[in-house]
Amino acid sequence: MAALRNLSTDSLLNHAVKAPNKHGVSTDGAIAETSTASSRPISVLFVCLGNICRSPMAEAVFRSLALSDQRLGQIDSCGTGAYHEGHSPDPRTISTLQENGIVDYEHSARKIQVADFDTFDYILAMDGENLHDLLRLKTRVIKKKDAGLNKEKLSAKVMLFGDFGGMKGEQVADPYYGERNGFAIAYEQMIRFSNGFVAQVLDAPE
Ligand code: 4NP
Repeated sequence: MAALRNLSTDSLLNHAVKAPNKHGVSTDGAIAETSTASSRPISVLFVCLGNICRSPMAEAVFRSLALSDQRLGQIDSCGTGAYHEGHSPDPRTISTLQENGIVDYEHSARKIQVADFDTFDYILAMDGENLHDLLRLKTRVIKKKDAGLNKEKLSAKVMLFGDFGGMKGEQVADPYYGERNGFAIAYEQMIRFSNGFVAQVLDAPE
């Protein structure tokens, strides 16, 4: 269980709003930039508390599985807290990825921003607390009239990543204070959930 929590929705609501970025605007996190009349890339944001253990692992695994998938747009990760802003992923996350052949992943931790609710199609939480914080923030963004976002465009689906694992409600336990084994368990979940997302969202008949 994480010891720290720091989701200040007021500070988030006062953040500058980025321009919408759903249609192939080039960013650091862009994998593919395709947009046609019938389909546009699906963008995905993975979220945990600190953005140094679970969500960067999810992002790295998802990227490695879906690397050249033209149906995907921006892929990124962030935290509900800002404690580790600017930090690289936890060394145990990096070594777990490396042990599984993912050797080129780099990330700088950041906190969720209001604009993320506009930029991303799917915002995928690692555990129930992350999900609760994200849903509360989304509600506040929608209620806040001067947040600078068009309510109609706040289309992000906020869900548990584990909902794609075949068992609705499966959570990724926070491995930060736990045994090394927690990272291996999380890795197995990331693979399973990523494959589930591809099957249920990307490959699903329209
Ligand atoms: P994460 O793990 O949310 O998976 O990145 C954590 C990392 C740091 C802390 C908590 C959880 N922390 O309290 O500093």
